Amino acid sequence: MHLYLIGYRGTGKSSTGRVLAQLLNRPFHDADVVLEATANMTIAQIFAEYGEADFRNRETATLLTLAQQTDAVIATGGGVILREENRELLRTTGFVVWLKASAETLWERIHRDATTAERRPNLTDRGGLLEVQQMLQMREPYYRSTAHFEIDTEALSPEALAANILTAWNSSMKCL
Ligand code: S3P
Repeated sequence: MHLYLIGYRGTGKSSTGRVLAQLLNRPFHDADVVLEATANMTIAQIFAEYGEADFRNRETATLLTLAQQTDAVIATGGGVILREENRELLRTTGFVVWLKASAETLWERIHRDATTAERRPNLTDRGGLLEVQQMLQMREPYYRSTAHFEIDTEALSPEALAANILTAWNSSMKCL
């Protein structure tokens, strides 16, 4: 069973994933980083040159590759839940955790992250807080239906999030 982290940009999937991997003594994979290394391009370049549909195909292929590797902690891109086949693969090959925060908090975090502009393309013509609000509204049903466990990240450090996630995972295993 993999431990998958899903959620919008800025929810702390990578930082929490690294802590979890250390605690579990497992490899950590950031699916976006693997995708970029495979393509030898940034995500922003892939969007600009080939378009979003091509990026989504690469995202599915990356997920499939990672799912076949030994048990790991895997941070996924924020839009991975858009495809039914990805949602199915996530749920059937691991424990899926949805990291949540309000649109305002996410926009604040995304805005502050210096790598956002060069690595992460806008997902609509608008960008900004409005984009985050619209995307969250559209995606929330998918995040919710894919996740085995959801957790609010507003007030918790990556270490505290990791501890809560491990507790939830352990108790879900006892229920099996
Ligand atoms: C995307 C989120 C990004 C990356 C790509 C598309 C999205 O990942 O996969 O820019 O559709 O929300 P992060 O959530 O890691 O930023």
